[in-house]
Amino acid sequence: MDWQWENVFRMKVFLETYGCQMNVSDSEVVRAVLAHAGYELSSVIEEAEVVLINTCAIRENAYRKIYGRLDTLRPLRKKMRQEKGRFVVGLLGCMAQNMKEAMFRHPVVNLVVGPDNYRALPDLIDKVSKTGQKKDLKEIDADLSEYETYQGIDPKRFDGVNAWVTVMRGCDNFCTFCVVPYTRGRERSRTLDDILCEVRSLSAQGFRQVTLLGQNVNSYHAEGVSFADLMTAVADVPGIERVRFTSPHPKDFPEPLLEAIAAHPNICKHIHLPLQSGSDRILEMMNRTYTQEEFIRLATKIRRIIPNVSITTDIIVGFPTETEADHKETIHTVKAVEFDNAYIFKYSERKGTIASKKFPDDVPAEVKTTRIVQLFDVQHQISFMKNTSKIGTTLPVLIEGETEKRPGFHMGKSPGNMTVIFPETSHLPGEIISIEITDATTATLLGQSVSSPVLITL
Ligand code: 5AD
Ligand code: SF4
Repeated sequence: MDWQWENVFRMKVFLETYGCQMNVSDSEVVRAVLAHAGYELSSVIEEAEVVLINTCAIRENAYRKIYGRLDTLRPLRKKMRQEKGRFVVGLLGCMAQNMKEAMFRHPVVNLVVGPDNYRALPDLIDKVSKTGQKKDLKEIDADLSEYETYQGIDPKRFDGVNAWVTVMRGCDNFCTFCVVPYTRGRERSRTLDDILCEVRSLSAQGFRQVTLLGQNVNSYHAEGVSFADLMTAVADVPGIERVRFTSPHPKDFPEPLLEAIAAHPNICKHIHLPLQSGSDRILEMMNRTYTQEEFIRLATKIRRIIPNVSITTDIIVGFPTETEADHKETIHTVKAVEFDNAYIFKYSERKGTIASKKFPDDVPAEVKTTRIVQLFDVQHQISFMKNTSKIGTTLPVLIEGETEKRPGFHMGKSPGNMTVIFPETSHLPGEIISIEITDATTATLLGQSVSSPVLITL
């Protein structure tokens, strides 16, 4: 390794993150790797000689956002190259992995690093940041690994309430619409010991909640330890008051897992259960491995074993060949399960996926729009009904901090992951307090503290 140490110590890095919680968690790994190598992390982009963008590839609009962002970097690049003789723009994450060298077509990009190659970042930045070069130096490292779990790296976190803990990476499911198996590679899990060591240290640092993360988090398995064993062991770590997990697949919910969730008061009673479609024909084309009936049966079983559980979902409208009848099956399933909340997306063809090779993207854009609006409508009614039914009840709320829009108010999360807003109390972020729910919208619950009702007058 021959770094220009004097360069490294002077170089400021600005890191920006797009996309899912895995990227948020990966950015914490990136910060740790860079800080360890002596780079200074800056929150002011104008000061940085290295700008890293951790990207998402899940839908086309994620790409559009990144291209737009790269365009805005042109003036800064010009200025920095004039003043300092160098400027590095590195693309990290799923778009980097998917596009590889093609990203160099954008004139500001000179570094492309995939999600399994972050340990190499200090070396790569060093290579592309040599001063006085007429032409931009370019480097790429986008090799997927079967083993990399970033075990042993202590992620550099900012948030003091919730800590994301990546327990597994990759996906072997190959849902036909999804680019993740290509950008994140094969499934691999960290050892229980390594995860527990991290969770104990998080507890000692004052984190009250951990969210176990993985592209297929409930496929976790390592050295004979199942996901249910892992959840139990994490919930038993002293000081951890809430345990969550995301994102699971419906195929991996054996009864012992549901029973472990039910048995531990500090495991949040919230399950994200991605439906994707309610039509058996479309589910088969998507390679989702369950039928509508099996999905509804699973949701019923979850509600039986875990009383008061909240169930949320992801749905895609306008998958190739989706008919009005298929769409009606999805609406039927949404009504039958009564999800607490749903994230609904228009199908977006992703290059390299099985669907992109086998099924033309033939549902017209206007039809996708009509269907997404219809589903939003159905779900909003259900969410509103579920939320208003909570008025008058008291929920334990983990305070996360101030609300952006309402000065004098705090926001926090219920065990079911609902956002709860209430007038500030003397309690601080990280504390769990009892909030009596007084009002509700489709997306938010409003309430007031039971122990110290309304210190602030409105
Ligand atoms: N088009 C639209 N939505 C998608 N998702 C994944 N791939 C696509 C795609 N090609 C959605 C799925 C998944 C969520 C994270 O993103 O609903 O659960
Ligand atoms: Fe994508 Fe399916 Fe894997 Fe989820 S389970 S990451 S939707 S391929």
